Amino acid sequence: MLNSTPTYASFRSIGAYVPQRVLSNSDLETMVDTTDEWIVKRTGIRERRIAADDEHTSDMGAKAALLAIDRSGLAKEDIDLVVCATVTPDYFNMPSTACVISSKIGIRDVQAFDISAACSGFVYLLSIAKAFIESGMKKNVLIIGAEKFSSIVDYTDRSTCILFGDGAGAAVISATQNKDEAIIDIHASADGSYADFLVTPAPGAIYPASQKVIDEGLNFVQMKGNETFKLAVKTLTNDVLHILEKNHINSADIPHFVPHQANYRIIKAVGDALKMRDDQVVLTVGKYGNTSAASIPMALNEIFESGRLKKGELMLLDTFGGGLTWASALLPFAGESK
Ligand code: UT7
Repeated sequence: MLNSTPTYASFRSIGAYVPQRVLSNSDLETMVDTTDEWIVKRTGIRERRIAADDEHTSDMGAKAALLAIDRSGLAKEDIDLVVCATVTPDYFNMPSTACVISSKIGIRDVQAFDISAACSGFVYLLSIAKAFIESGMKKNVLIIGAEKFSSIVDYTDRSTCILFGDGAGAAVISATQNKDEAIIDIHASADGSYADFLVTPAPGAIYPASQKVIDEGLNFVQMKGNETFKLAVKTLTNDVLHILEKNHINSADIPHFVPHQANYRIIKAVGDALKMRDDQVVLTVGKYGNTSAASIPMALNEIFESGRLKKGELMLLDTFGGGLTWASALLPFAGESK
């Protein structure tokens, strides 16, 4: 007999991990031609975390994942799908970082795979988890955004090395019959015609490992910063206006606006355009920099751990990154408050 009660996907728990080592603006002053004043004024970033040499993307992802599972109240055995978003996987390209994380945390015989959507990765993961759960295929999906961005940063390039940091965040998305707990809406999109705005040329099928790759630094991230900045402000703003309008929600009624933490000036411009009050906007860019797919879950974990995120409160996620990709999500926090 068919079950007539619809199944929804709910955001059950959040966890994150940040590496110990701090790379401050004054450290960067000794490495490239820059100043603390320039970095703070142009980006809002004061420091970022850097993983240890023997600390890999999967190690950070595994720590965040264990915390998220623990806080979900579920057992590891309840997880039936593991998906990781990263552009700095342990291996290019197999095994997937999701497989490595699953093994490290003791999840076996469960579907696991990675996605590549750069900074939009975590919100893309939410859409994947929602689709798997609402179709009835899975019940408890572990999603992880983890990056060892320092592994693809050229620490002689002042235009990029000041921006990025390492870290991981994870969440458990679970099936529920309670509509009040349901993820309300997700909008995820992309435009590959802007692929050259943010690119790591190697290693890949175009540039497999070679002396040329090393000599020309093709293994490092390259970014058209200023062009990316302008498009980010426009896209992030329009995406939020669209999702709020579609769901008949006023921006003033969002307690937690969690934008991708790329640059304070981008966040400020988007917040102002959306008429967000300062107390609505979650900011972690100053202490972690841009951690790509880990940025949104690390920011969510901050408001959870500080007790600011309460059960049932609305979160509006908004992100933008290489691809180009962008995504926004509107959802209540369905976990227990701290
Ligand atoms: O997560 C994915 C999305 N990524 C982003 O959203 C990043 C978006 N872009 C940005 O955040 C900004 O474009 C940057 C922070 C990267 C750069 O800021 P900007 O205000 O766009 O500066 P700019 O690239 O237009 O450069 C202005 C000047 C240049 O010097 P000249 O040509 O005017 O003499 C740069 O060489 O600033 C110079 N510059 C620096 N100076 C000191 C660039 N980087 C630095 C630096 N320190 N670290």
